[in-house]
Amino acid sequence: PVIEWEASADLVVVGGGVAGLTAARTASLRGLRVLALSKGGPIDTSTQYAQGGIAVVAPHGDSIESHVRDTVEAGAGLCETSAVRAIVEGGQAAVAALTDLGAVFDLGRDGQISRTREGGHSTRRIIHAGGDATGAEVQRALNAAGLPVLFGAAACEVVTGPSGVQGVIAVSDKGFGVVHTPAVLLATGGLGQLYALSTNPPGATADGVALALWAGAAVADLEFVQFHPTVLYTPGGLGRRPLISEAVRGEGATLVDAEGNSVTAAVHPRGDLAPRDVVSRAIAARMRELGTDHVFLDARAIDGFAQRFPTITASCLAAGIDPRAGLIPVAPAAHYQCGGVVTDAHGRTGVPGLYAAGEVARTGLHGANRLASNSLLEGLVVGERAGAAAVERLGASTEVTDVRPRTMPRVPRAALQQVMTTHAAVVRDRDGLASAAATLERAVLRGMSSRFAGDGAMVPPAPEDLAARRIAELEDGALTLTARVLLLAAAARTESRGCHTRSDHPESNEALRHSIPIRLDADGRPDVF
Ligand code: FAD
Ligand code: SIN
Repeated sequence: PVIEWEASADLVVVGGGVAGLTAARTASLRGLRVLALSKGGPIDTSTQYAQGGIAVVAPHGDSIESHVRDTVEAGAGLCETSAVRAIVEGGQAAVAALTDLGAVFDLGRDGQISRTREGGHSTRRIIHAGGDATGAEVQRALNAAGLPVLFGAAACEVVTGPSGVQGVIAVSDKGFGVVHTPAVLLATGGLGQLYALSTNPPGATADGVALALWAGAAVADLEFVQFHPTVLYTPGGLGRRPLISEAVRGEGATLVDAEGNSVTAAVHPRGDLAPRDVVSRAIAARMRELGTDHVFLDARAIDGFAQRFPTITASCLAAGIDPRAGLIPVAPAAHYQCGGVVTDAHGRTGVPGLYAAGEVARTGLHGANRLASNSLLEGLVVGERAGAAAVERLGASTEVTDVRPRTMPRVPRAALQQVMTTHAAVVRDRDGLASAAATLERAVLRGMSSRFAGDGAMVPPAPEDLAARRIAELEDGALTLTARVLLLAAAARTESRGCHTRSDHPESNEALRHSIPIRLDADGRPDVF
């Protein structure tokens, strides 16, 4: 593309959520010249919507060991224990840093930070803010830190050279620009927009996964998409769905089907507070048995529901449901990307100068299924470490000479969501995955960009604004590549493990108790290596 503006920085952070802003703050405090890019506005992040809270070891009746154990158990054999331990150990300091920034957490009657419980946790260790508005408080505190963020600017290519990262190409309302930098940290959030129903905001389009793959880095564990069990169900309509936090079950709500029977009683000893994958599968199975598209959460016995869960109460009331008087209809929806760009516990990828942190990264913390409320924790701890690690790149080359436009096959979003929702959601099988992959490969081969031939779905009209259109193209390209990678990994994983359930391979296979790393081959096609 024609380059219309230039800038330089010691570190470019891509993303303005918990991981990106924490990294930007740490690097700034260490004297780096930081530029953060955020394609949306200050609250267009998943961080903003986080409800339940942050998992941090409690001072009494809890231990690092216990939190590590719960995380590893939820992760179904694929967690890296050293990464789990490193991140869990960093929790208390990370929360203290956030509190220093002005974040305020809810207190109990004893004046101590109040803690709730969520699925998979053996004790009450989840701290929260504003009842069920933890993410909004974290985002508010980080936004108020006055970090240098360029809003409305999307990173669309990481430029590498002999010394690793040498710059990044971005698009904003000033056109395409190049930022000369030896270090880029991807903190771009998740991939919820791959699915028709998701808790994620519209910008959760897996850009960081694509940017990392294009730059030569590896990704892993993308087949493990976490479907949150309890997302408010309303008939019709697509897009971001309001979450009914697990903390609601943590405070005593129960999951029942249309006939009033428990959904999880016979499924797991922890019942409604079993790990998330178990509960989502149980709901999907019960919905299939009964031929319905939702079950119910009964929260009527919770005292002071509206005070404890003001955000959820407002979402329910807006949908005409009063959780204090009636049942809340819920169904699983895409929520969290457990895998991502392969990094160490300091956010380093295999490409010198390229870092990743937060939901886009695969640090080894989550394995095959993330433990509830471990994500904000990871964003804070690894964001801080990656921001500090970037100091090692000072003095590396930032020369950017050759900027070529990338050919980026892309399937329009609605069509992609339809394929992924039909064939790669809570329960998958070989034929469905193969059919989805073939549909996408056909579309890619035809270089589809304006109309998707698979099922005739139309692309929405392009936004008038050029920057918005370029960002939308980048997003569809990133989603398309990520879908291909996910389908490849899901087909290769011929077993059921964590959030990846194969109806044709219902058991776990010990021989597959490892991650499946994927890179792009010389022709730009995803390949297991
Ligand atoms: P995000 O907060 O999503 O930020 C991503 C940023 O990257 C955004 O600023 C976006 O604009 C920017 N971006 C993306 N692509 C580009 C690009 N190409 N160029 C420039 N900028 C780009 N986790 C918990 O631990 N506890 C909870 O209670 C909890 N509740 C949740 C509730 C909901 C409804 C959702 C959706 C998630 C919840 N999670 C929770 C998960 C958690 O909120 C997220 O995983 C976490 O906030 C992700 O943070 P992040 O910094 O990685 O990304
Ligand atoms: C929730 O509040 O249920 C979401 C928690 C999480 O995703 O970690």
